[in-house]
Amino acid sequence: MPTRWNVHRLPRAEGKTFLVTGANAGIGYHVAEQLASTGATVVLGSRSAAKADAAMASIRSVVPDARVRHLQLDLADLGSVKAAADELDSLDAVVCNAGVMIDDAELMYAANHLGHFALVHWLMPLLVAAPEGRVVTTGSLRGKSAKPGDAYARSKQAQMLFGFELDRRQSGVLSVVNHPGGALDSLTPPRTLLSLPAGLLLQGKDAGAWAAVRAVLDPSVRGGQMIGPRVLGLRGEPRVEPVRGELADTALAARVWAESVELTGVEP
Ligand SMILES: NC(=O)c1ccc[n+]([C@@H]2O[C@H](COP(=O)([O-])OP(=O)(O)OC[C@H]3O[C@@H](n4cnc5c(N)ncnc54)[C@H](OP(=O)(O)O)[C@@H]3O)[C@@H](O)[C@H]2O)c1
Repeated sequence: MPTRWNVHRLPRAEGKTFLVTGANAGIGYHVAEQLASTGATVVLGSRSAAKADAAMASIRSVVPDARVRHLQLDLADLGSVKAAADELDSLDAVVCNAGVMIDDAELMYAANHLGHFALVHWLMPLLVAAPEGRVVTTGSLRGKSAKPGDAYARSKQAQMLFGFELDRRQSGVLSVVNHPGGALDSLTPPRTLLSLPAGLLLQGKDAGAWAAVRAVLDPSVRGGQMIGPRVLGLRGEPRVEPVRGELADTALAARVWAESVELTGVEP
Protein backbone atom coordinates (compact mmCIF):
# COMPACT_ATOMS: atom_id res chain seq x y z
CA MET A 1 0.00 0.00 0.00
CA PRO A 2 1.45 3.41 -0.91
CA THR A 3 1.81 5.73 2.06
CA ARG A 4 -0.72 8.55 2.31
CA TRP A 5 0.49 11.69 0.59
CA ASN A 6 0.74 14.71 2.88
CA VAL A 7 0.81 18.04 1.04
CA HIS A 8 2.31 19.69 4.12
CA ARG A 9 5.12 17.14 4.62
CA LEU A 10 6.89 16.87 1.30
CA PRO A 11 9.86 14.53 0.85
CA ARG A 12 13.24 16.25 0.76
CA ALA A 13 14.77 16.64 -2.71
CA GLU A 14 18.21 18.16 -2.17
CA GLY A 15 20.43 17.77 -5.20
CA LYS A 16 17.51 17.62 -7.64
CA THR A 17 16.67 20.29 -10.19
CA PHE A 18 13.11 21.05 -11.28
CA LEU A 19 11.99 23.41 -14.04
CA VAL A 20 8.55 25.00 -13.71
CA THR A 21 7.13 26.91 -16.68
CA GLY A 22 4.96 29.93 -15.95
CA ALA A 23 6.38 30.03 -12.44
CA ASN A 24 6.20 33.79 -11.98
CA ALA A 25 2.48 33.80 -11.18
CA GLY A 26 -0.54 31.76 -10.22
CA ILE A 27 -0.36 28.02 -9.73
CA GLY A 28 3.14 27.81 -11.22
CA TYR A 29 4.44 30.22 -8.59
CA HIS A 30 3.07 28.00 -5.84
CA VAL A 31 4.47 24.86 -7.50
CA ALA A 32 7.89 26.56 -7.49
CA GLU A 33 7.55 27.69 -3.87
CA GLN A 34 6.47 24.24 -2.65
CA LEU A 35 9.22 22.48 -4.61
CA ALA A 36 11.80 24.99 -3.29
CA SER A 37 10.81 24.05 0.27
CA THR A 38 12.16 20.52 -0.37
CA GLY A 39 15.75 21.75 -0.80
CA ALA A 40 15.70 21.18 -4.57
CA THR A 41 16.96 23.74 -7.06
CA VAL A 42 13.94 25.25 -8.80
CA VAL A 43 14.31 26.96 -12.17
CA LEU A 44 11.55 29.44 -12.93
CA GLY A 45 10.78 29.46 -16.66
CA SER A 46 9.34 32.87 -17.40
CA ARG A 47 9.26 35.33 -20.29
CA SER A 48 9.67 38.26 -17.88
CA ALA A 49 12.88 38.57 -15.84
CA ALA A 50 11.29 41.27 -13.67
CA LYS A 51 8.31 39.07 -12.78
CA ALA A 52 10.63 36.12 -12.13
CA ASP A 53 12.76 38.29 -9.83
CA ALA A 54 9.65 39.30 -7.86
CA ALA A 55 8.56 35.66 -7.65
CA MET A 56 12.01 34.54 -6.45
CA ALA A 57 12.06 37.28 -3.79
CA SER A 58 8.66 36.09 -2.62
CA ILE A 59 9.80 32.45 -2.51
CA ARG A 60 12.89 33.45 -0.49
CA SER A 61 10.68 35.30 1.99
CA VAL A 62 8.89 32.00 2.68
CA VAL A 63 11.82 29.60 2.15
CA PRO A 64 14.92 31.58 3.23
CA ASP A 65 17.46 29.05 1.90
CA ALA A 66 15.59 28.48 -1.39
CA ARG A 67 17.72 27.61 -4.39
CA VAL A 68 15.90 29.36 -7.22
CA ARG A 69 16.89 30.89 -10.51
CA HIS A 70 15.29 32.37 -13.59
CA LEU A 71 15.35 30.87 -17.09
CA GLN A 72 14.24 33.12 -19.96
CA LEU A 73 11.40 31.25 -21.70
CA ASP A 74 8.63 32.28 -24.07
CA LEU A 75 6.68 29.16 -24.97
CA ALA A 76 5.07 30.83 -27.97
CA ASP A 77 8.51 31.24 -29.57
CA LEU A 78 10.31 27.99 -30.50
CA GLY A 79 13.65 29.82 -30.74
CA SER A 80 13.26 30.93 -27.13
CA VAL A 81 12.25 27.39 -26.10
CA LYS A 82 15.38 25.89 -27.72
CA ALA A 83 17.65 28.53 -26.18
CA ALA A 84 16.13 27.87 -22.75
CA ALA A 85 16.67 24.11 -23.00
CA ASP A 86 20.28 24.71 -24.08
CA GLU A 87 20.90 26.74 -20.90
CA LEU A 88 20.29 23.76 -18.60
CA ASP A 89 22.90 21.12 -17.81
CA SER A 90 20.91 18.83 -15.53
CA LEU A 91 17.23 18.29 -14.83
CA ASP A 92 15.13 15.84 -12.80
CA ALA A 93 11.66 17.06 -13.75
CA VAL A 94 9.90 19.65 -15.85
CA VAL A 95 6.47 20.93 -14.87
CA CYS A 96 4.70 22.14 -18.01
CA ASN A 97 2.43 24.56 -16.19
CA ALA A 98 2.29 27.81 -18.18
CA GLY A 99 -1.01 28.44 -19.88
CA VAL A 100 -3.16 31.20 -21.24
CA MET A 101 -6.86 31.60 -21.98
CA ILE A 102 -7.09 34.11 -24.82
CA ASP A 103 -9.12 34.74 -28.00
CA ASP A 104 -6.20 34.04 -30.34
CA ALA A 105 -6.63 30.26 -30.73
CA GLU A 106 -3.36 29.79 -32.63
CA LEU A 107 -1.26 31.64 -30.05
CA MET A 108 -3.06 29.81 -27.25
CA TYR A 109 -2.32 26.40 -28.85
CA ALA A 110 1.32 27.43 -29.31
CA ALA A 111 1.79 28.61 -25.72
CA ASN A 112 -0.30 25.93 -24.00
CA HIS A 113 0.70 22.90 -26.03
CA LEU A 114 3.24 23.18 -28.87
CA GLY A 115 5.82 25.13 -26.84
CA HIS A 116 5.76 22.46 -24.14
CA PHE A 117 5.87 19.66 -26.74
CA ALA A 118 9.08 21.13 -28.18
CA LEU A 119 10.50 21.97 -24.75
CA VAL A 120 10.14 18.36 -23.63
CA HIS A 121 11.83 17.20 -26.83
CA TRP A 122 14.85 19.43 -26.22
CA LEU A 123 14.99 18.53 -22.50
CA MET A 124 14.74 14.78 -23.07
CA PRO A 125 18.51 14.04 -23.03
CA LEU A 126 18.78 15.64 -19.57
CA LEU A 127 15.65 13.90 -18.26
CA VAL A 128 16.77 10.50 -19.54
CA ALA A 129 20.15 11.01 -17.86
CA ALA A 130 18.45 11.76 -14.50
CA PRO A 131 17.96 8.81 -12.10
CA GLU A 132 14.16 9.11 -12.41
CA GLY A 133 13.39 11.93 -14.85
CA ARG A 134 9.80 13.14 -14.94
CA VAL A 135 7.66 15.12 -17.35
CA VAL A 136 4.61 16.62 -15.64
CA THR A 137 2.03 18.06 -18.02
CA THR A 138 -0.83 20.27 -16.85
CA GLY A 139 -4.33 19.73 -18.11
CA SER A 140 -7.74 20.91 -17.06
CA LEU A 141 -11.14 19.48 -16.26
CA ARG A 142 -12.29 21.11 -19.52
CA GLY A 143 -9.65 19.15 -21.40
CA LYS A 144 -11.19 15.82 -20.38
CA SER A 145 -13.88 16.22 -23.02
CA ALA A 146 -13.13 19.07 -25.41
CA LYS A 147 -15.88 20.43 -27.67
CA PRO A 148 -14.70 21.26 -31.23
CA GLY A 149 -15.20 25.04 -30.83
CA ASP A 150 -13.58 25.27 -27.39
CA ALA A 151 -10.03 26.24 -28.33
CA TYR A 152 -8.82 26.49 -24.72
CA ALA A 153 -10.15 23.03 -23.86
CA ARG A 154 -8.58 21.60 -27.02
CA SER A 155 -5.19 23.08 -26.17
CA LYS A 156 -5.37 21.60 -22.67
CA GLN A 157 -6.58 18.24 -24.00
CA ALA A 158 -3.65 18.21 -26.43
CA GLN A 159 -1.26 18.60 -23.46
CA MET A 160 -2.96 15.77 -21.58
CA LEU A 161 -3.00 13.43 -24.59
CA PHE A 162 0.65 14.31 -25.19
CA GLY A 163 1.48 13.35 -21.60
CA PHE A 164 -0.21 9.95 -21.93
CA GLU A 165 1.27 9.29 -25.38
CA LEU A 166 4.73 10.23 -24.13
CA ASP A 167 4.36 7.60 -21.44
CA ARG A 168 3.55 4.99 -24.10
CA ARG A 169 6.44 6.01 -26.39
CA GLN A 170 9.25 6.93 -23.99
CA SER A 171 10.39 4.45 -21.38
CA GLY A 172 13.35 6.45 -20.04
CA VAL A 173 11.23 9.00 -18.11
CA LEU A 174 7.99 9.06 -16.12
CA SER A 175 5.29 11.07 -17.85
CA VAL A 176 2.58 12.15 -15.42
CA VAL A 177 -0.47 14.30 -16.17
CA ASN A 178 -1.96 16.61 -13.55
CA HIS A 179 -4.79 19.08 -13.38
CA PRO A 180 -5.33 21.66 -10.65
CA GLY A 181 -9.13 21.50 -10.43
CA GLY A 182 -10.61 24.96 -10.07
CA ALA A 183 -8.06 27.32 -8.60
CA LEU A 184 -8.86 30.93 -7.87
CA ASP A 185 -6.16 33.38 -6.91
CA SER A 186 -5.23 32.59 -3.32
CA LEU A 187 -5.20 36.32 -2.70
CA THR A 188 -8.69 36.90 -4.09
CA PRO A 189 -10.64 38.81 -1.41
CA PRO A 190 -13.28 36.59 0.18
CA ARG A 191 -16.01 39.16 -0.41
CA THR A 192 -15.88 38.85 -4.18
CA LEU A 193 -15.38 35.51 -5.92
CA LEU A 194 -15.09 33.34 -2.86
CA SER A 195 -18.42 34.48 -1.46
CA LEU A 196 -20.16 32.86 -4.42
CA PRO A 197 -20.89 29.12 -4.50
CA ALA A 198 -17.63 28.90 -6.43
CA GLY A 199 -15.89 29.65 -3.16
CA LEU A 200 -17.20 26.38 -1.78
CA LEU A 201 -16.25 24.39 -4.84
CA LEU A 202 -12.90 25.85 -5.83
CA GLN A 203 -9.63 26.43 -4.02
CA GLY A 204 -6.70 28.84 -3.89
CA LYS A 205 -3.82 28.57 -6.34
CA ASP A 206 -1.59 27.34 -3.51
CA ALA A 207 -3.81 24.26 -3.26
CA GLY A 208 -4.09 24.23 -7.06
CA ALA A 209 -0.35 23.47 -7.05
CA TRP A 210 -0.67 20.29 -4.96
CA ALA A 211 -1.37 17.91 -7.86
CA ALA A 212 1.69 19.01 -9.85
CA VAL A 213 3.92 18.89 -6.76
CA ARG A 214 2.78 15.35 -5.99
CA ALA A 215 3.36 14.38 -9.64
CA VAL A 216 6.97 15.59 -9.31
CA LEU A 217 7.82 14.19 -5.88
CA ASP A 218 5.74 11.15 -4.96
CA PRO A 219 7.85 7.99 -5.40
CA SER A 220 4.68 5.88 -5.70
CA VAL A 221 3.42 7.77 -8.77
CA ARG A 222 3.69 5.81 -12.02
CA GLY A 223 4.07 6.94 -15.62
CA GLY A 224 0.74 7.40 -17.42
CA GLN A 225 -1.13 8.31 -14.25
CA MET A 226 -3.24 11.43 -13.82
CA ILE A 227 -3.37 13.37 -10.58
CA GLY A 228 -6.10 15.83 -9.63
CA PRO A 229 -7.94 17.16 -6.58
CA ARG A 230 -9.97 14.68 -4.55
CA VAL A 231 -13.32 16.52 -4.26
CA LEU A 232 -15.20 16.27 -7.57
CA GLY A 233 -11.89 16.88 -9.33
CA LEU A 234 -12.27 20.52 -8.26
CA ARG A 235 -10.59 20.93 -4.91
CA GLY A 236 -8.78 19.13 -2.14
CA GLU A 237 -5.88 16.76 -1.65
CA PRO A 238 -4.29 15.36 -4.82
CA ARG A 239 -5.12 11.77 -5.73
CA VAL A 240 -4.61 9.46 -8.69
CA GLU A 241 -7.65 9.68 -11.01
CA PRO A 242 -8.91 7.18 -13.57
CA VAL A 243 -8.08 8.00 -17.21
CA ARG A 244 -11.24 7.59 -19.29
CA GLY A 245 -13.12 8.75 -22.37
CA GLU A 246 -11.30 11.01 -24.81
CA LEU A 247 -8.19 10.97 -22.60
CA ALA A 248 -7.94 7.19 -23.06
CA ASP A 249 -8.37 7.46 -26.87
CA THR A 250 -4.98 6.27 -28.13
CA ALA A 251 -5.84 6.99 -31.79
CA LEU A 252 -6.70 10.60 -30.89
CA ALA A 253 -3.47 10.89 -28.90
CA ALA A 254 -1.44 9.54 -31.82
CA ARG A 255 -3.11 12.09 -34.12
CA VAL A 256 -2.30 14.99 -31.76
CA TRP A 257 1.28 13.71 -31.55
CA ALA A 258 1.68 13.53 -35.35
CA GLU A 259 0.19 17.03 -35.79
CA SER A 260 2.48 18.40 -33.08
CA VAL A 261 5.53 16.91 -34.83
CA GLU A 262 4.41 18.51 -38.08
CA LEU A 263 3.78 21.93 -36.52
CA THR A 264 6.97 22.10 -34.44
CA GLY A 265 9.38 20.07 -36.56
CA VAL A 266 10.57 18.11 -33.50
CA GLU A 267 9.67 14.73 -32.02
CA PRO A 268 10.13 13.96 -28.30
N1 LIG B 1 -6.68 28.34 -12.42
C1 LIG B 1 -7.47 27.33 -12.71
O1 LIG B 1 -8.57 27.17 -12.16
C2 LIG B 1 -7.04 26.30 -13.71
C3 LIG B 1 -7.92 25.27 -14.01
C4 LIG B 1 -7.51 24.28 -14.91
C5 LIG B 1 -6.26 24.33 -15.48
N2 LIG B 1 -5.43 25.38 -15.19
C6 LIG B 1 -4.11 25.39 -15.82
O2 LIG B 1 -3.12 25.60 -14.83
C7 LIG B 1 -2.02 26.33 -15.38
C8 LIG B 1 -1.74 27.57 -14.54
O3 LIG B 1 -2.92 28.35 -14.51
P1 LIG B 1 -3.01 29.68 -13.63
O4 LIG B 1 -4.45 29.83 -13.23
O5 LIG B 1 -1.97 29.68 -12.58
O6 LIG B 1 -2.66 30.80 -14.74
P2 LIG B 1 -2.07 32.27 -14.53
O7 LIG B 1 -2.23 32.74 -13.13
O8 LIG B 1 -2.70 33.10 -15.62
O9 LIG B 1 -0.51 32.09 -14.85
C9 LIG B 1 -0.11 31.66 -16.10
C10 LIG B 1 1.40 31.61 -16.17
O10 LIG B 1 1.76 31.19 -17.49
C11 LIG B 1 2.74 32.10 -17.98
N3 LIG B 1 2.74 32.20 -19.44
C12 LIG B 1 1.72 32.54 -20.25
N4 LIG B 1 2.12 32.54 -21.54
C13 LIG B 1 3.43 32.20 -21.53
C14 LIG B 1 4.41 32.06 -22.55
N5 LIG B 1 4.12 32.27 -23.86
N6 LIG B 1 5.67 31.70 -22.19
C15 LIG B 1 5.97 31.50 -20.90
N7 LIG B 1 5.10 31.63 -19.90
C16 LIG B 1 3.83 31.98 -20.21
C17 LIG B 1 2.37 33.42 -17.35
O11 LIG B 1 3.48 34.32 -17.44
P3 LIG B 1 3.28 35.92 -17.67
O12 LIG B 1 3.20 36.47 -16.30
O13 LIG B 1 4.49 36.31 -18.43
O14 LIG B 1 1.99 36.10 -18.44
C18 LIG B 1 2.06 32.96 -15.93
O15 LIG B 1 3.25 32.78 -15.20
C19 LIG B 1 -2.40 26.65 -16.83
O16 LIG B 1 -1.83 25.68 -17.67
C20 LIG B 1 -3.91 26.51 -16.82
O17 LIG B 1 -4.41 26.17 -18.11
C21 LIG B 1 -5.79 26.36 -14.32
